[in-house]
Amino acid sequence: MYRTHTCGELRLINKNENVSLSGWVQRTRNLGGMTFVDIRDRYGITQLVFDMDTNSELCEQARKLGREYVIQVKGNVSERSSKNSKMPTGDIEILVTEINILNKSDVPPFTIEDDTDGGDDIRMKYRYLDLRRATVRKNLELRHRMGQEVRKYLDAQKFIEVETPVLIKSTPEGARDFVVPSRMNKNQFYALPQSPQVFKQLLMIAGYDRYFQIVKCFRDEDLRADRQPEFTQIDCEMAFVEQQDIINVFEGLAKHLFKEVKGLDIEGDFIQMPYSEAIANYGSDKPDLRFEMKIVDLTELAKQNDFVVFNSAEYIGGICADSCASYSRKELDKLTKFVQRPQIGAKGLVYVKYNEDGSFKSSVDKFYSQDDLKKWADLFNAKPGDLLLILAGDREKTLSQIGELRLEMANKLNLLDKDKFVPLWVVDFPLLEWDDDSSCFHAMHHPFTSPKKEDIELMDTDPGKVRANAYDLVINGVEIGGGSIRIFNDELQQKMFKLLGFSKEEADAQFGFLMNAFKYGAPPHGGVAFGFDRWVSLFAGLDSIRDVIAFPKNNSGRDVMIDSPSEIAKEQLDELFLKTIKPKE
Ligand code: AMO
Repeated sequence: MYRTHTCGELRLINKNENVSLSGWVQRTRNLGGMTFVDIRDRYGITQLVFDMDTNSELCEQARKLGREYVIQVKGNVSERSSKNSKMPTGDIEILVTEINILNKSDVPPFTIEDDTDGGDDIRMKYRYLDLRRATVRKNLELRHRMGQEVRKYLDAQKFIEVETPVLIKSTPEGARDFVVPSRMNKNQFYALPQSPQVFKQLLMIAGYDRYFQIVKCFRDEDLRADRQPEFTQIDCEMAFVEQQDIINVFEGLAKHLFKEVKGLDIEGDFIQMPYSEAIANYGSDKPDLRFEMKIVDLTELAKQNDFVVFNSAEYIGGICADSCASYSRKELDKLTKFVQRPQIGAKGLVYVKYNEDGSFKSSVDKFYSQDDLKKWADLFNAKPGDLLLILAGDREKTLSQIGELRLEMANKLNLLDKDKFVPLWVVDFPLLEWDDDSSCFHAMHHPFTSPKKEDIELMDTDPGKVRANAYDLVINGVEIGGGSIRIFNDELQQKMFKLLGFSKEEADAQFGFLMNAFKYGAPPHGGVAFGFDRWVSLFAGLDSIRDVIAFPKNNSGRDVMIDSPSEIAKEQLDELFLKTIKPKE
């Protein structure tokens, strides 16, 4: 038997027991006649003691143990003279009588401790060593717990988990597909699912009226902290439901997870905020409601003047930063640079300081009187000591820029409390969004999303104004999930395809199987999918989803540990009827 206990298990009640432990050498310390070794496994760390006086041979052996050696020890549990209250096993230590080296280890490229000395690249290359660190392990344990709780809740709600295929045909989630060549069907390709969207709709037609799956999805898109090329969804679909039914069931799931995983009771219904309100007040369709700092529309008030920048703008608006009037020139310049970054794209930033003495100092003093600025301050509900930050331009872009500035200021003012959670549903999304590059409408969610009944007529007259039965779950500024009530009527679906610029032939080629299935009794249905990685990382208080994925890809989409993607042998290419072309420099 390798072990009687784990390395996180023994306490004072085990005193005088003879035990056996197995694990990795965390570190070795020689103090005079004593040698201490910390032995680690998944469950914790236990201190081992070797006494030179009682067993010099064993003590010598212990001194030679390298970091990460795998050992088995036998010994007696004894009470520590100097206890360590920071460790769960800190009251005891093992007086070792026997040691077996099960395996040696090379010196690891970084220390396996909470605060490691390993940079990102090296930790990813040796991810199996990184995974030994307690901080990383805790994230995976949290992920496991959340997965279990998701299954528990959905099973109790009569959902069944059904697996759907991975080698499929292109799905319409709006990103690029990863494709896989087929050997048996020469020159033809599978696409990996961007989500199981079409299959879950087919399952509704098949009568499985409550489906879920914790499932891998694949999207070839630019990576960010909250995006991986392969990620996991909690994918769900229900039949005979309207939007509010879906919201009820999945608000229940969210509350269940908050309660069981975070120990938090979220009282009352989640806010349901129309998309237009989210954009107008927060400059984002995923507003962070942990703090107020609402956007104020200054267009009317600030235009009555001959300041060209404002007069030529479609929209003027800003935020009020509490107690920031004391910001120095340098700090204001930094904020200007922030909004001018290419990702944000503002031309400049106007500031108004509401001084403690009631006077105003602004970057537009030349154009606006103290009285004008007082009116602005009143509109913002500002008080002496506050700072107004104002942007102007095209309405949509400017609101989004102010939205970014709002988050930046919240960060500076320490308003982004990781232990506070404010969930909301963003509802009434537009059905379509205009794409300048391709000069056509795109589905804001996906082409199967239904328009609101009262807006169907607008599909012919003003498609951009049509609202969808679509909803996102947003927590602390993170889009945790999104879904919609689907079109289940063939005629309406055809109309939608037409608006999206698909010819009948194109729509048939891509989605004919689904359209065909709709002819055989499709029930009203709808669903939602949650980004599992995002939800776990939010609960873990992390900024990147990489830390909750056992083997993630880096920012270039590479797995540096297994060195993938990589070239394949010529024979393999030949078998697939493929040839590679050297890219031009
Ligand atoms: P959507 O495309 O909104 O909807 O995706 C649902 C949720 O998946 C997460 N997500 C991602 N997480 C990590 N990396 C990515 N690259 C990534 N892309 C998306 C987000 C997002 O909210 N089939 C529809 C759902 C439906 O209509 O039922 C869908 O996939 O948290």
